[in-house]
Amino acid sequence: MAEIGATGDGGVHRPALSETHLAARDWFRSRVLDAGLEFRVDSAGNHSAFLACGPSGAPVLLLGSHSDSVPYGGRFDGALGLVAALETLRVVKEAEVSLPVHLEAIDFTDEEGTLVGLMGSAALAGMLGEGALQDPRGGVDALEHGLARAGLTRDGLLKARRDPATLAGYLELHIEQGARLLNARARIGIVTSIAGINSYRLTFVGQADHAGTTKLDERRDASLGASAFTLAVRDLVLREFPGCVVTVGDARYVPGAFNIVPERVTLSLEFRAPDFAKFEQMEVKLVQRAEEEADRFELGLEIEALGKCDPTPMSQFAQQALADAAQSLGLACLSLTSGAGHDAQSLAQLCPAGMIFVPSVGGASHSPREFTEWEDCVNGANVLLQGALRFASVLNPA
Ligand code: HGY
Ligand code: MN
Ligand code: MN
Repeated sequence: MAEIGATGDGGVHRPALSETHLAARDWFRSRVLDAGLEFRVDSAGNHSAFLACGPSGAPVLLLGSHSDSVPYGGRFDGALGLVAALETLRVVKEAEVSLPVHLEAIDFTDEEGTLVGLMGSAALAGMLGEGALQDPRGGVDALEHGLARAGLTRDGLLKARRDPATLAGYLELHIEQGARLLNARARIGIVTSIAGINSYRLTFVGQADHAGTTKLDERRDASLGASAFTLAVRDLVLREFPGCVVTVGDARYVPGAFNIVPERVTLSLEFRAPDFAKFEQMEVKLVQRAEEEADRFELGLEIEALGKCDPTPMSQFAQQALADAAQSLGLACLSLTSGAGHDAQSLAQLCPAGMIFVPSVGGASHSPREFTEWEDCVNGANVLLQGALRFASVLNPA
């Protein structure tokens, strides 16, 4: 899978619904069929392997993650959890194990929010609103082209909701994307909660002027408000919101030329908090700061809220099943929060959801430097398998 969209430096470039992402989904489909499993795709483009290993009408235990990547990202983020989920179904099928539930290994569309944050899992959870499709964080053109390339439609996205009554739960294996497991010498992480993520597009509006003939104190230079805001929010969050993060990951200058005073500068603003109160306060303070910096440099300000996912606790029941599984395998585990967003945040709205982390070397992720040792990948896959069996058996003890 890491060969698909490989960037040659150990990373992959598989933005949601791009050609390389669709190639990865073809790879997944062929592996599902090779394993003799049923292949399914829902109207949000979520791809699944399905194993009817429970009695007729039994609920489904979903196992999954995502095959899309951030631009020029790493080869473990999402991919590890997806292939481990598929392997779990293959092992259960080969062993001819029957369970009180059916199993489904699912690849969620656009987990990374290249188009719309957590698009496929939010659609499955019935949480994808019209607004998110009207003004997607990846831009309307990218969304339209991606949907067309994949043969998906807006309507399909909006009607992909899965009936919660059909779901027993959701478990996901994922790399930690940080260094806490390494530092604690733990092999397995059990996720207690996932940070909330909120995104805005902010445009500072000045006036285009000649870069040679317009005096510095006569300009309305949009780059000044944008730059002051970018620096200010880092200090604001460090000072007032310890444990939270804020990122300005993209800036677009218009007209964008050496010899024109920037008229418009559009920033991508993303911020995250582990708890709800801070999450809400940050939104107020950051938008307020944007308005202050715009005023300071006599600029206009356009504010577009692009959707958010609230801080989400993981199911205690799922955490216990996964911790028991890790201990049964003699693996030291650590409970920890997730600063990264995951599809489990969507699934937790529908059914008991749980996540397993395995160590990221150097804590690196969203970069070609992303790496996890093979032994840790195998440990994670075994905890996923044993956790799924425990989760299922506790549902309906033999
Ligand atoms: O951005 C995230 O936190 C995740 O990797 N999608
Ligand atoms: Mn991920
Ligand atoms: Mn990611």
